[in-house]
Amino acid sequence: MLGAYSCLLFILGASAANDNITPSQSIRDGETLVSVNGTFELGFFSPGTSAKRYLGIWYKRVSPRTVAWVANRETPLTDQSGLLNVTSKGIVLLDGRDRIFWSSNTSITMKNPVVQLMDSGNLVLTDGNYNSLLWQSFDHPCDTLLPGMKLGRNFKTGMDRHLSSWKSINDPAPGEFSLWIDTHGFPQLVLRKGSVLQYRAGSWNGLGFTGTPPLKENVPLCDYKFVINENEVYYECDAKGPAVSRLWVNQSGLVLRSIWSSQQDVWFLAYYAPLDRCDLYSVCGANARCTTNSSRRCDCLEGFVPKSPNNWSEGCVRERELKCRNGDEFPKYVKLKLPDTSSSWFNASMNLKECSELCSKNCSCTAYANSDVERGGSGCLLWFGDLMDMKEYNDGGQDLYIRIASERGRSVTKKQVGIIIASVLLMAMFIVASLFCIWRKKLKKQGLTKMSHMKEDMELWEFDFASIAKATDNFASYNKLGEGGFGPVYKGTLVEGQEIAVKRLSKGSGQGMEEFKNEVTLIARLQHRNLVKLLGCCIQADESMLIYEYMPNKSLDFFIFDQARATFLDWQKRIHIVGGIARGILYLHQDSRMRIIHRDLKASNVLLDNDMNPKISDFGMARIFGGDEIQTNTHKVVGTYGYMSPEYAAEGLFSVKSDVFSFGVLVLEIVSGKKNWRFSHPDHDHNLLGHAWILWKEKRAMELAGDTLADSHPPTEVLRCIHVGLLCVQHRPEDRPNMSSVVLMLSSDSLLPEPNRPGFFTERSLPEAEFSPSYPQSSTTNEITITELQGR
Ligand SMILES: *[C@@H]1O[C@H](CO)[C@@H](O)[C@H](O)[C@H]1NC(C)=O
Ligand SMILES: *[C@@H]1O[C@H](CO)[C@@H](O)[C@H](O)[C@H]1NC(C)=O
Ligand SMILES: *[C@@H]1O[C@H](CO)[C@@H](O)[C@H](O)[C@H]1NC(C)=O
Ligand SMILES: *[C@@H]1O[C@H](CO)[C@@H](O)[C@H](O)[C@H]1NC(C)=O
Ligand SMILES: *[C@@H]1O[C@H](CO)[C@@H](O)[C@H](O)[C@H]1NC(C)=O
Ligand SMILES: *[C@@H]1O[C@H](CO)[C@@H](O)[C@H](O)[C@H]1NC(C)=O
Ligand SMILES: *[C@@H]1O[C@H](CO)[C@@H](O)[C@H](O)[C@H]1NC(C)=O
Ligand SMILES: *[C@@H]1O[C@H](CO)[C@@H](O)[C@H](O)[C@H]1NC(C)=O
Repeated sequence: MLGAYSCLLFILGASAANDNITPSQSIRDGETLVSVNGTFELGFFSPGTSAKRYLGIWYKRVSPRTVAWVANRETPLTDQSGLLNVTSKGIVLLDGRDRIFWSSNTSITMKNPVVQLMDSGNLVLTDGNYNSLLWQSFDHPCDTLLPGMKLGRNFKTGMDRHLSSWKSINDPAPGEFSLWIDTHGFPQLVLRKGSVLQYRAGSWNGLGFTGTPPLKENVPLCDYKFVINENEVYYECDAKGPAVSRLWVNQSGLVLRSIWSSQQDVWFLAYYAPLDRCDLYSVCGANARCTTNSSRRCDCLEGFVPKSPNNWSEGCVRERELKCRNGDEFPKYVKLKLPDTSSSWFNASMNLKECSELCSKNCSCTAYANSDVERGGSGCLLWFGDLMDMKEYNDGGQDLYIRIASERGRSVTKKQVGIIIASVLLMAMFIVASLFCIWRKKLKKQGLTKMSHMKEDMELWEFDFASIAKATDNFASYNKLGEGGFGPVYKGTLVEGQEIAVKRLSKGSGQGMEEFKNEVTLIARLQHRNLVKLLGCCIQADESMLIYEYMPNKSLDFFIFDQARATFLDWQKRIHIVGGIARGILYLHQDSRMRIIHRDLKASNVLLDNDMNPKISDFGMARIFGGDEIQTNTHKVVGTYGYMSPEYAAEGLFSVKSDVFSFGVLVLEIVSGKKNWRFSHPDHDHNLLGHAWILWKEKRAMELAGDTLADSHPPTEVLRCIHVGLLCVQHRPEDRPNMSSVVLMLSSDSLLPEPNRPGFFTERSLPEAEFSPSYPQSSTTNEITITELQGR
């Protein structure tokens, strides 16, 4: 039967779509094995421009081909006569003349050997039944660590699994760089160049490696494991969720975690290391720490002085010799990458107090720290001798207590205490005064002036044009973050290092300079955790600019409409974002001192901070452009297809209820991960609103959430969210709830009214003729922002 099957495939010219082979079968060059769910494929390939043939495993659905494992890394075939066989001795790779190029090198003789390509990308060799695993490719990593693979050492078998970069894109042979778990002292992850330690990702602290960029909680790629016991030490990522991710070492010695975006057909980087000069192993020498944000990168630890003032790489030495016993003290350092642990000692069950006592008792102990920072900290790590390779973070890092000799003459008289206090006070006053002067000078230098009519505790700055031009490299196109209805937005970095977003307003608001400043001051008073903070403005001739805080996580559309990134947003995060947006709008509509109607609420106007808190941007634009209160018939229709309420699009009528409509669209987009504008469905011509409405009517609304949210969501919460969304997009403005009701509905279990038909049920009901689209959005082509003057 099997023969007939293979024969048929052969006739059709297809490759063997099996996931395993037995001794009666083999894989020739041109044929492949495909794992059961079609995730991985095994076969022969030539890397880059090379003509040589290698046996490898790659992602079946990823293009261009991304190879995760290579069998004969150093022994390529020179022709296409390659043949993969499984014999009683294991897996063998032969050429046309039966010469062996590679083998699994198993010592046991098998009766019924089977080689199978698993959906995890693991190639396994078993004997008849699946319980007897005899060999697996996961034990012999190349440059890629797949989920489920272990990196590290097994003390029983002596196996030391590590990654090694390819030599070049044309040659998968082991290159210069390799990634290991160093098991000397407290285990740590290290990158070597040849045999030289290049970068230390560091020890595992329960949450991550002490020297890798802080892994944001919002990246649920893996359940990370770091296991230390008498048998083995290893690091592993257990796949979590549908995201396809891999950790690998590239040819220039970077450790990268890449995630596949099937929508954009690219691997994008979740993080990489080393990040900066401070990550170079021991760049500042012994007993020093490296800081990235000051001009002087190296600093001696407290109680230490440079060994050679001209050469930092010689490190620092003690200012005073240790006295041991009670003569020493242990100042605390925070936000540090812990020093090299290769000669440290640890005990996972001690607490910090025991740890401190143990260290102070032993004179050669130079520092101590918790080995685990989870749940308030536990475990004990002790260092002996010089402390190497420390880095100071702005964010993240760990506490470390470092031994120094205390200064002589601890016992002082009351009189001395009095004198000391008096001089300290005087000194403090002097420092405050000088700091104030320096601060004033610095502000002047940066071209900042406090706006004259600034009152109360508000900080709002008028930036001069030169400093903004400098910060954005003269509004260079590579600094452009996007473009909205009111003008382009640029990223900038001020002289002092602060990152800003600069919105260059389109000309023609018809406002005078004083009016504009007044307006900006009003807007800057709007402060809410769900609104982007306005820092100031800049006026140059007839051009005005607004300066905002910069949001690193981009906007909501960047996440919800991308299949891979969408997995970062589980249901809890989505509902948190929906709630935040609602509270932000509520504040604009009625809780602030004035009523602001946003008029252009959409996913790309909701920015996300480091913790994925939503922040509405572009609020207040309506005011700056001369919008009036409550309901008005505007001269200028500003909005985005897909988010505009019927009365606004058709008649230019806007009110708080048109914002409610846009909010409803946003809610349905967040739940479904689909865009309203240009939504398509095989069964009907409706847009997302129409689709949601049909599903609601047919009591199948849960289907809207789709697979994106997998099992992470409680159905009642999802249904309630959809219900509120549908109430907000009802055709008649008076049917839609106001934002205070929306906030209440989202946070309580009260009974909700049945929604009526939504506005703009189908795409065709949009009165397109009345608009002429002007320019497209920056990142997406299926969204069009329109700005047009309507005749009265
Ligand atoms: C490889 O397997 C094929 C059967 O698929 C067999 O004909 C051939 O003799 C085997 N070669 C070796 C060297 O075992
Ligand atoms: C293959 O896919 C099915 C359905 O998606 C899933 O239930 C199964 O666990 C997958 N198998 C493997 C080995 O991943
Ligand atoms: C096969 O294994 C033996 C012993 O484990 C080792 O000496 C030999 O070098 C290995 N051969 C290859 C090709 O890896
Ligand atoms: C390694 O990765 C970094 C970051 O993506 C990239 O800049 C560099 O060019 C890569 N090196 C090679 C040789 O591709
Ligand atoms: C680095 O920058 C952060 C924030 O800008 C600041 O809090 C910290 O003190 C700076 N560190 C040094 C050493 O200048
Ligand atoms: C600095 O010190 C290091 C280590 O002792 C030495 O290799 C290097 O040559 C020195 N550099 C200079 C400029 O003296
Ligand atoms: C680790 O500390 C615990 C608690 O203090 C102690 O019982 C245990 O013996 C220690 N283990 C080692 C190896 O020192
Ligand atoms: C101090 O610690 C070192 C290193 O672990 C050890 O060799 C030495 O015996 C200890 N000394 C005392 C007094 O415990």
